[in-house]
Amino acid sequence: MALLAIVSGCSSGAASPEGPGDALDAGSGDAAATVDAAAGVGRCDYRNAFSGHDECKAYLGAAWTAASAADDCAKQPGAGGAFVAGGACAASTLGRCVVAKGDGLDATTELGGVAATECSSAELACTTFAGGTFVAGSVCASATTDDHTVFIWPTQSCVDPLPGEPAGQSADGKVCTWNLISACTEEGRDYRDYGSCDVVRTNRPYYPVPARAIAGASDPRRADAAYLAESAWAKRQVASCACVCCHTSAAPKGAAAWSLSDDPLWADTISDEGVAMFAGYVDSSVLGAFDPADNNGFDRVHSALPSTDPARMVGFFQREFDRRGLTQSFVAGIPPFGAALLDQLSYAPQACQAGEGIDASGKLVWSGGKPARYVYVLEAGSDNPGIPPNFDLPAGTVWRVDVPHDGQPLASGLAYGAVPSGATQRFPASAPPAPLVAGHVYTLYVLYDVALPLARCTFSAP
Ligand code: HEC
Repeated sequence: MALLAIVSGCSSGAASPEGPGDALDAGSGDAAATVDAAAGVGRCDYRNAFSGHDECKAYLGAAWTAASAADDCAKQPGAGGAFVAGGACAASTLGRCVVAKGDGLDATTELGGVAATECSSAELACTTFAGGTFVAGSVCASATTDDHTVFIWPTQSCVDPLPGEPAGQSADGKVCTWNLISACTEEGRDYRDYGSCDVVRTNRPYYPVPARAIAGASDPRRADAAYLAESAWAKRQVASCACVCCHTSAAPKGAAAWSLSDDPLWADTISDEGVAMFAGYVDSSVLGAFDPADNNGFDRVHSALPSTDPARMVGFFQREFDRRGLTQSFVAGIPPFGAALLDQLSYAPQACQAGEGIDASGKLVWSGGKPARYVYVLEAGSDNPGIPPNFDLPAGTVWRVDVPHDGQPLASGLAYGAVPSGATQRFPASAPPAPLVAGHVYTLYVLYDVALPLARCTFSAP
């Protein structure tokens, strides 16, 4: 999904030094496109903990000193960045985020990345989160809005079991499976036979990433029957869940970062950070979880890797954590998985600016020129909407309208309570929403797509 390719408010990325004045020519004509990248006190190279891409932040504002820039760099989420005094950033592939302070330039961030499908999220991360101006780089200059992979809202499929497999657990013998990244089919079955990986692969960006190497032929675990049995059990569990869509060598472009296909030591392919998460030491709850009763008994609340026996799964990875000699001080430096989503949940909406909120005729308006797929009006002070299945309908929602993935997104100027054709009212389930109370304060929360906010601000009803 577009979900995780999100840049933190003040992130930047890795690049190599380059000659002075390397302007990123995006053909935009914007002054932001021609930044003298060598004029600052230095650069910060780091890996964006959320998108997984290298980024580079250049400290260009007059207020930065080498010390304050180095300090900012050390605070980059994840492992922190490497500060290079006097260094400039090389132009990046996705684009550049230019952030101003007062009437001067503050910093630029070069956003690394490979896929045109990531351009919309990179742009919104820059404009919505960092308050910057996005200048398309080589990949994004030719990308169109259509390149964005639209998140397909989860539905549940109920189908007959494959020939030779036992009857399904639903009343009519069918096997029921949600089509969502956090979903699983029935234990013992393969998710790919019952869920839609095509739908799941809209839930976050999918691309191949080389896996960590596995231990060689002399590794004692290869002859350890108890280990091999646990490893095989854990693998069968993952194969029943949507993770299997991207984490095997059979995924369309190959495995993403870790691979169930690397038998029998597939757990070796997981990064240390991933092992810490699966061992229960790093929070990933913001990535969403079903009630196990609605997910064929698979629990992602007590085990980041969904399991019908969470304690057994967590135990398997705690032993792997110990085997690698990892420590709690290592864990302390790992940001929560889905930290960009956490930032969205904890964001405190402020009063809408001109051109945002509600106009005198009762139309909901948002700026930025992009159309919306999700529009929420909430009681002020409600939790912000997050991702399905358990964060997308916060208590305090007054009205919510969705546009399906194949529908035409909504332009700003949506009359409160009026559901345009092609859109679906998600809340209230039936009946029109309660009328807005004059003078009462509400939050307008508008999404370009799941986890990509266009507007999130409070307004007083006219
Ligand atoms: C749509 C594809 C897709 C699905 C489905 C998916 N992932 Fe991933 N996952 C990725 C990609 C791509 C990366 C690599 C990100 C990077 O490093 O740039 C990744 C990386 C990870 C990592 C980082 C660990 C490492 O070894 O570096 C963890 C942990 C992880 N996934 C867990 C899961 C779990 C658990 C599930 C199922 C609940 C899941 N993923 C489902 C695409 C997916």
